[in-house]
Amino acid sequence: MSQTPPAVSSRPRARVVSNVRCTPPKAPSPRKKLPVPAAKSTASAAGRLDPTVSFPAIRSPTKSPRNGARKQLMASSPLMTVMINAARKAARGIQRDFGEVENLQVSRKGPGDFVTNADKRTEKILRDELLKARPSYGFLAEEGGALKGSDAENRWIVDPIDGTTNFIHGVPLIAISIALERKDEVIAGLIYNPIMDELFTAERGRGGMLNERRRLRVSARRELKDALICCGLPHDSKDDFQTFNRELTALQGHTGGFRRTGSACLDLAYVAAGRFDAFWERGLHPWDVAAGSLLVREAGGRVVDLDAKPDPIATGNVLVSNAELFEDLQKRLRGLAAP
Ligand code: IPD
Repeated sequence: MSQTPPAVSSRPRARVVSNVRCTPPKAPSPRKKLPVPAAKSTASAAGRLDPTVSFPAIRSPTKSPRNGARKQLMASSPLMTVMINAARKAARGIQRDFGEVENLQVSRKGPGDFVTNADKRTEKILRDELLKARPSYGFLAEEGGALKGSDAENRWIVDPIDGTTNFIHGVPLIAISIALERKDEVIAGLIYNPIMDELFTAERGRGGMLNERRRLRVSARRELKDALICCGLPHDSKDDFQTFNRELTALQGHTGGFRRTGSACLDLAYVAAGRFDAFWERGLHPWDVAAGSLLVREAGGRVVDLDAKPDPIATGNVLVSNAELFEDLQKRLRGLAAP
């Protein structure tokens, strides 16, 4: 597989459709073992990670299914199995590198936007695995740009490590994001946090799952005053601080609280899982939003463009919410962008 992508195609629209092929249920594939927690502390006197110690995987609180319960789990389709296998393979390097974060050679792309060797390595593994399974598909990713496939209808959209700044700082809020777009619609999405071992998946028309065993469902919270709202925080000098400040002001004093994780795809996954009630951010890219938007929709939530444009994945200006709070949030946040 060539590493140098040919011509970059312009970003097509992505919406969801329902032509996912389903197969008869089969037993879920065995979970891969993650690195065993080291006995000694990972923190040095300076409070930084000790690069010689492997970082312990934090287990998600989901319970193991009891005998019999396993039968009721939704089996992954062949397509999702390809995506999960690629993500788990790529995750092994991230888990290793996360424990050696201080040793990584980091190059600077722009203010606050770092690219690590781990990013590039992870993207290569994902590209190799996904294109090995579906050689004719196109491929769009954060580091390498777009690769045109012979099949113009299908395209992978990939962020190898969303939350690069978290990664560099040893904050375990990072994720691999993989979406499959078919005829400009996202039909499958996966978001995997390899440090916390949390796997969020969804296929169009089949719903979403956490760790292949718990259904994804957005929250049912109705009152904005009780809601936990996540947002992006503009930080780059090119960012539109004024619009963000107007948006924040429109919500401040009316919510149960605000959060900023530093990984937009996890923000979307957390809305899909009902942890956050809503999320908004401007200036995102298709690889930040494509997989997560399907997770949220399949979990019963809403994903729209903040300025009422038709395609939030294309604009990257997203409002994501549970169904109950959506109208209220939309009313408060719309029309605040600088002219
Ligand atoms: C970033 C994260 C972050 C968001 C930035 C993104 P990256 O992606 O998703 O939460 O605020 O706009 O660029 O660079 O870590 O892949």
